[in-house]
Amino acid sequence: MRAPLSALPDRGGPAQPMLSVTGLRRWFKLSGGWPLSPKRVIRAVDGLTFSVAKGSTLGIVGESGCGKSTAARLIAGIEAADAGEIILDGEAFWTRGARIGREPRRAVQMVFQDSHSSLNPRMSAAESIAFGPEAHGVSASAARAYALDMLDAVGLPPDRFADRPPMALSGGQRQRVNIARALALRPRVLLLDEPVSALDKSVEAQVLNLLVRLRDSLNLTYVFISHDLSVVRYVADEVAVMYLGQVVEMAPAATIFAHPAHPYTRALFASRPSIDPRRRIAAPPIQGDPPDPVDPPSGCRFRTRCDYAEAICAARAPALAALADPAHRAACWMNVAGSGHSAAP
Ligand SMILES: Nc1ncnc2c1ncn2[C@@H]1O[C@H](COP(=O)(O)OP(=O)(O)O)[C@@H](O)[C@H]1O
Ligand SMILES: [Mg+2]
Repeated sequence: MRAPLSALPDRGGPAQPMLSVTGLRRWFKLSGGWPLSPKRVIRAVDGLTFSVAKGSTLGIVGESGCGKSTAARLIAGIEAADAGEIILDGEAFWTRGARIGREPRRAVQMVFQDSHSSLNPRMSAAESIAFGPEAHGVSASAARAYALDMLDAVGLPPDRFADRPPMALSGGQRQRVNIARALALRPRVLLLDEPVSALDKSVEAQVLNLLVRLRDSLNLTYVFISHDLSVVRYVADEVAVMYLGQVVEMAPAATIFAHPAHPYTRALFASRPSIDPRRRIAAPPIQGDPPDPVDPPSGCRFRTRCDYAEAICAARAPALAALADPAHRAACWMNVAGSGHSAAP
């Protein structure tokens, strides 16, 4: 059957990025507790810049607390950014002070890690999926019929699953309903925030395969957030590594896994338990917790945990800049000729 909501139009050729984010910022201002105590400002997302090609998957990795979920909420329009710009298929989706329209907002949908709390316990699977299209003016009967089709598309036979409440579904089935619910609005971009992190390994593989199939058949663009590097390696075409609210390295997946350039990326990859001892990387695994995002270090934010930090690293923040391969970018003074770092070319 035909989808009751029209697909949002493609505004440019495949050469135009589907999504680009420039200088995105979200600071959380917390009161200090006492009337005169200073306000604490958490710089959750602090100058985030990246873009995603149409039909591709960008994987975002980084330790817990580095701002991945906040960035996803900003891009989904669930929360407003303080500064920066989000361009969706060539059109401004968010700039400071501008309102996010209903239609562009529909084009970006999100799937969360916690499949349980994101579904209304009183609604059946079909009702949850039909809810969004109905809110966009689709008749109840058309929305219901479409919801049954969507259940089928995510591998849940509607005759068995349509009328089940979330508590009568397994974790993997609930996450399939969440995916169907997001897709029922006919988005062009899906933000997946740790979508398989709560699932068993065998179920995880099935859901990942489903996501890859849906992306290709529906011509979707994914932003796939995960702390699990093997999952990102499986799904992502490009990978962005975040540290304290910023991207520190970005490259095609094959490139970054073979030649990680930023000391943080190398440490992150090395701290992953490897089954093959020959594949252990020389970089020391990362130690301790990231610094407090309320008071990030001066200059390069990673310098307090970096074995290669020198004076320049504390003095100035390195920009995300292209390496010899222009598709590979890293923010590290060791890669900048004449930066003053002893390891610079
Ligand atoms: N609503 C909020 N209010 C205050 N601080 C928040 C809020 N949401 C997130 N944070 C803080 O912002 C930082 C980034 O959090 P988050 O985006 O959830 O990171 P990640 O998803 O990478 O683990 C953390 O320090 C977190 O405590
Ligand atoms: Mg998160």
